[in-house]
Order: sequence, then C-alpha cells, then structure tokens
Amino acid sequence: MSRPLSPTPPMGWNSWNTFSWNVNEELILSTAEYMVSEGLLDAGYEYVVIDDCWSEKQRENGRLVPDRKKFPNGIRPIADRLHSLGLKLGIYSCAGTHTCGGFPGSFEHEFTDADTFAEWGVDYLKYDYCYKPDSADGENLYRRMGMALRCCGRDIVLSACCWGKDEVHKWIRHTGAQLFRSTGDIRDNWDSIKTIALSQLDKTYFSAPYCHNDLDMLVVGMHGKSDNSWIADVVGGCSDTEYKTHFALWALMSSPLMVGCDIRNMKPSTKNILLNKDIISIDQDIECRGPYVIRQWNNPQKVFALVKPLYDGSYAIGMFNFGDRTNEMSLQLYDMGLPVSSGRGLSLYDCYSHKDTGVFSERIVQNIPSRDCMVFKARAVRL
Ligand code: GAL
Repeated sequence: MSRPLSPTPPMGWNSWNTFSWNVNEELILSTAEYMVSEGLLDAGYEYVVIDDCWSEKQRENGRLVPDRKKFPNGIRPIADRLHSLGLKLGIYSCAGTHTCGGFPGSFEHEFTDADTFAEWGVDYLKYDYCYKPDSADGENLYRRMGMALRCCGRDIVLSACCWGKDEVHKWIRHTGAQLFRSTGDIRDNWDSIKTIALSQLDKTYFSAPYCHNDLDMLVVGMHGKSDNSWIADVVGGCSDTEYKTHFALWALMSSPLMVGCDIRNMKPSTKNILLNKDIISIDQDIECRGPYVIRQWNNPQKVFALVKPLYDGSYAIGMFNFGDRTNEMSLQLYDMGLPVSSGRGLSLYDCYSHKDTGVFSERIVQNIPSRDCMVFKARAVRL
C-alpha cells in the first residue's frame, strides 16, 4: 500500500483520444514499452489507462469480463507486465448502468467490481457518468465507488468523470476521489483547448493535494490522428505552438497530465512538449495551488497571465496570447504584490530555453505570438 494516493496530479497515458473502441492487449503492452523507452516514465508519466470498450457486453456470474478477442489473456497479465516495467494500470467503468460505449456499468455492482479490479492488480479507475438512472444521486454513486475502492484491499486511485456536472467541484473531495473531470470531452482543436481552460479559470482553487481538477486528457501530438472522428475533428488537429500552449495551461492550472496521442509514433516536437521537465515541475508542485489571473489591461479577453505560487518560494508565471496576431503582455509586478517601494524585482528563468533571463523591475513586457505562451519561474530579489 502506498497511501496517501496522488498528492500531486496523476500523470500517464489514456487510450481514449486516439484509439477509442480499438483497445487491445497488444496496444496496451506496446504503449507501455514506449512509455519507458521514450522517457515518459522517467518524466513522471506512470499510469497506463485502458478507457471504455474493454469488456464483454454482458456480465458473467455477476462479474465484468474482459473482451475475449481484445484481451485474450485477461487483465491480470497486463497489470503484472506494467508493474514489472515500473508502470501502473488504469481501467474504466461507469457509475451508471452502462458505459458511454454501451458496455456494462458498475451501478449496483460497485463492491464486486472494486474487488475484481483489485484482484486484477488495477491501480486506477476512471469512473464515468453515462446512463446514470435519474432516480440515483450522482454524489452518492461516487461516494459508493469511493467506499468500495477503500475497502477492496488495494490502493486504487478514483478518477471521477462526470464532466463538471452537478457542481462536482463542491462535493467530489468528500467522496474520496483523487481527481475529477470538470468539463466535457476535449477535441483535437484549438477552440476546444481554449474553451476548457477558460471555463476552469475560476475553479482551480477547488483543486488541492489528493483531489485534482482534471481538464481532460491531453491532445498534444495527435495532429488529427484518431480512430474517433469526433475527437480528431475535421480541421485535422493543432499546430505545435497550440499544443505547447495547451500543455502550459494544463500545468499552470495543476491538471492531471494524461497523454492522449499515440506515443509509439511521436514527433520530436511532441516529445519536446511532453518531456519539458520545467513545465512538468510546475504541474507537479507539491502545494498544488491554483493560479490567479492577471489580464492585459487593453486586451483582457485575449492576453493574460496565470501566476502560481510554488512550494520553494518562487512563482510560475505563464503569459498567454489567445488572439490571432502577436500581442503584447505587460505584466505589472505591482499586481503580483511587488510594489516598486519594496526595492525588489523578479529574477526570471525561462522554462523553454532553460536559462535565466535576468532581473525585471516594475514590469515584464513581452510580445507573444498568436496562440503562443511564455512560461517563467520567478523569484523576488533585492534590486
Ligand atoms: C466520456 C468520457 C471520455 C471517455 C468516453 C468513453 O464520457 O468523458 O473521456 O472516457 O466517455 O466512452
């Protein structure tokens, strides 16, 4: 047992964004090998999550059964293999009668299913919200699975996935869940990234150690490739700049980082984004503080900074330009609580060049290209 679970946001890979219903043993095991060989595990990505569509359509003797074609050897050997690689296994079920893909859900089977997952060596359960009977109370259903996992004899992270419904941020912590989806499903386009991030700017303070606001899986590196045309979207994915900004937003907002692309075929630019240790360290800061927002006075909707205090006394500063042309951000240090009269300025370290960029007094002025961002770690110093 390794409780307490998830002091910081969980990191890993999830099958849904790219493969959706096409999950199988070969995919999961080969992905796991690449998690190790591509350096993702070393960077902190440890969960390999099998999303929806892994089971047979019917329970047998009251139990969930892995699809015999997709997982001919069952789930246990997959868990064993992952554990031998230093990884952890995630699986998926639903608080309703069926999963969103139409497979059996855990409604009224919570304790049996938690025991089954524990027997299989599962470490993480993504728990969805489709086909919830109207008469059932959602909060109670998450309490139930929370309870079932807490008495199943194994440490299993509960990843609640009720899409921000029913004011989940107000009660989810009490259910024992370690993370909670706060929005609808992400798609591989800039608009989706932007909409999700903006919708949670005022809700990151509900996120804290052991229970994290999950902005959904990453689309970084998908470039429009998915078996699921709704996620891939007609515009064919995002640019590397947009993926870079997506990753920075998720990190500044302390979201779980679950990779959604095919990591067996990553471009160098994708690896660059996902393996940026400085950005990851902002996401994984042990205090898990949500950021505050400072908007550019003359362009407040499109240009803004997120400021997140870090455990070591420094601050992460992300400057974002959601506009369609290059825009200036002029961040007044006064707004961060650093007036000129303090005799101090900010010493900046650039999280992309990985270099110190000097000491700034009064303000930091930067030109940010369209849909791009800059991310710094900043420390107050005497001038
Ligand atoms: C959705 C969920 C997705 C994915 C899908 C599977 O409800 O938000 O992340 O798990 O179900 O059917």
